[in-house]
Amino acid sequence: MLATRNAHKAEELTRILESFDLAVELKLVSDFPGAPEVEETEDSFSGNALLKARALCRFTGLPAIADDSGICVDALGGNPGVLSARWSGATENVDTSNLELVLQQTADVPEAKRGAQFVCAAVVVFPDGTELISQGEMPGRILIAPQGKNGFGYDPIFVPVGFTKTTAEMTSAEKDSISHRGIALRNLAEQLKGK
Ligand code: IMP
Repeated sequence: MLATRNAHKAEELTRILESFDLAVELKLVSDFPGAPEVEETEDSFSGNALLKARALCRFTGLPAIADDSGICVDALGGNPGVLSARWSGATENVDTSNLELVLQQTADVPEAKRGAQFVCAAVVVFPDGTELISQGEMPGRILIAPQGKNGFGYDPIFVPVGFTKTTAEMTSAEKDSISHRGIALRNLAEQLKGK
């Protein structure tokens, strides 16, 4: 089962996992009424992904896949990092508020210092206690204004290394082929195939 309540992430995870021919049937948190809300209290991506997967594996009795991800901005000392989803503290229009706060906080940062990377830890926890962990990174830089309508979260301000467009201007397939989530899941799928 996919241990995420983020619809955008569930869509990307499903899309990427289905491309691997793993012969698994994916279930969503919404298929399990009463599933626990998991607080992300760890200070690492893998720590938080494990918290989510362990809790949902325990609740459903099924192997659970979780990802924890975020954007680490050099000029902000690696923040928002694991706090990416909660950076602005907003409860409405969350993605836009988070992105606008990062733009505000980096408004005076010169081009040469606008480095950033997306990071994704992807894990699977099995009912027998086996845990598989993988991490992917996508290096790039952040813009001074949003560009593009695809994707979600910080995509409209992120340009990966080697590109001149944001991940919000890419097709799903293009983003998946280079993204932190794509890299982490491809590695996880390899580990799953070996099981
Ligand atoms: P969490 O993994 O549920 O803690 O949320 C991660 C947050 O990081 C998301 O809500 C987004 O704001 C951001 N994020 C993670 N991956 C991406 C991505 O692929 N594109 C844009 N934003 C992302």
